Amino acid sequence: MRNNFSIEHTMFSLVLVVIMTSKLFSQKNNHMKFELAPLPYAYNALEPHIDARTMEIHHSKHHAAYTNNLNAALENSSLTGQSIEELMTSGFETPAIRNNGGGFYNHNLFWEIMTPGGANQPEGDLAEAINAAFGSFAAFKDAFAKAATTRFGSGWAWLCVHKGGKVEVCSTPNQDNPLMPGSCGGFPILGIDVWEHAYYLNYQNGRPDYINAFFNVINWSIVGEKYNANK
Ligand SMILES: [Fe+2]
Repeated sequence: MRNNFSIEHTMFSLVLVVIMTSKLFSQKNNHMKFELAPLPYAYNALEPHIDARTMEIHHSKHHAAYTNNLNAALENSSLTGQSIEELMTSGFETPAIRNNGGGFYNHNLFWEIMTPGGANQPEGDLAEAINAAFGSFAAFKDAFAKAATTRFGSGWAWLCVHKGGKVEVCSTPNQDNPLMPGSCGGFPILGIDVWEHAYYLNYQNGRPDYINAFFNVINWSIVGEKYNANK
């Protein structure tokens, strides 16, 4: 009698452990982690405008940290499983998701719209929209550079497109972006990182010089594709 009870008790415990373990693994599998994508070009591809060392640290340290910290913030969160765009609004009130989710999203866009190739100024519908909003490409550059230069502390300057095709320049602090509540709105199609980690090694406190150099590495073909897809 006692032996039967002991065997049954052991089997019950084993079944319990199997159920709990499988639940644990299925929960882990449900937590889709965001991944740091490799840069779409070599670290030195943007030289002399942005140096290889800055690019390497920026991508492999800063962007990696935002990615890891975002995944950590989403562990056991009810927001797990949402897209990064959805998290920009749903996670806005949670500083760890707002800051690290913004950092993850913003840098993905930043790497994408820079490259040694592509058109070196806007073309097609985007060129027309920029001319309509600013008067000329030169006037747009002035407005964008001003937004980036005057962003106090750390943050970003953006070119956004609104539904209907109108474009607008704005800037946001820290790792915020136009997808977040209370920002300029619209969909970001071009962004410049003006945190010191983006330029200090090469330009020290010369943020305007870095901003001028940035115009040499924008891939306007990709920015134009983003404009057409989100106007
Ligand atoms: Fe950055």
